[in-house]
Amino acid sequence: MYIQLKHVSKRIKQDILLDDISLEFQGGKVYGLQGKNGSGKTMLMRAICGLITLSEGEIDINGDILHKDISFPESIGALLENPSFLNGYTGLENLKLLADIQGKIKEKELRECLMKVGLGADDKRVYRKYSLGMKQKLGIAAAVMGSPDIVILDEPINALDEAGVEKVREILRELKAKGSVIIVACHDREELNLLSDEIINISEGRIIV
Ligand SMILES: Nc1ncnc2c1ncn2[C@@H]1O[C@H](COP(=O)(O)OP(=O)(O)O)[C@@H](O)[C@H]1O
Ligand SMILES: [Mg+2]
Repeated sequence: MYIQLKHVSKRIKQDILLDDISLEFQGGKVYGLQGKNGSGKTMLMRAICGLITLSEGEIDINGDILHKDISFPESIGALLENPSFLNGYTGLENLKLLADIQGKIKEKELRECLMKVGLGADDKRVYRKYSLGMKQKLGIAAAVMGSPDIVILDEPINALDEAGVEKVREILRELKAKGSVIIVACHDREELNLLSDEIINISEGRIIV
C-alpha cells in the first residue's frame, strides 16, 4: 500500500493552500502532520481523501490516480473536522448505518471497534447525549472500523483523557501491523512525536524538510 503525491497544489482565488507538495506514504507507518493553525494540514488530508479537486499535480493511490482512475480511495477511513452522526441514534446504530453503506463490516466487529475506543457497545445513550470526548471516540471508531488501507485522523486526541489517548495509540499499533497507511495531525507536538514513525512539517502549504 502506498500513496504518492506528485507536485500537488491547491489554489482558491489568490490563496495558495497547498504549494507543490510531493510526498510518499508507505503502508505500516504512522505519519504525523505537524504545522501551525492554517498551515494546510486539513487541506492536505482532504486532498488525499479525494474531497477536493487539485489545481495542479496528482495523487497516486497504489497505482490508481485520484479523480482519473478512481473518484475516492477504495479503502479509506477518515476523521475530519465536524463528523456528522445522527443525533437520535446510539453509537452502535450510527456505526451500523455507516457500515451498511460500505456493506462489509459485521456487527461483531463494530462492537469490538466501539470497545477499542472506550465506548460501550450496549450504551443506550443516543449521540445527542454524548460528551465531547465520547463524540470524538465515535469519530475515531468510524474512521478505523473495518481496518481500512488508509486511515486519516485529523486531531484525533482532542477532548480525550489520558486513557482515551492510550487507546488511540493501541489502535494505531494494530493498524500499523495490518499494513495501513496512517496519517495523523495533532497540534500537541509531544504527543504527535509519540504517535508517529515519521513527522512531516508543513508551513503555509509547503513541506519543510
Ligand atoms: N474552503 C476554503 N476556502 C478558502 N480558504 C480555505 C478554505 N479552507 C481552508 N482555507 C484556508 O487554507 C489554509 C489551510 O487551512 P487548513 O488546512 O484547515 O489548516 P490546518 O488544518 O493546518 O489548521 C488556511 O489559511 C485556511 O484559511
Ligand atoms: Mg486542521
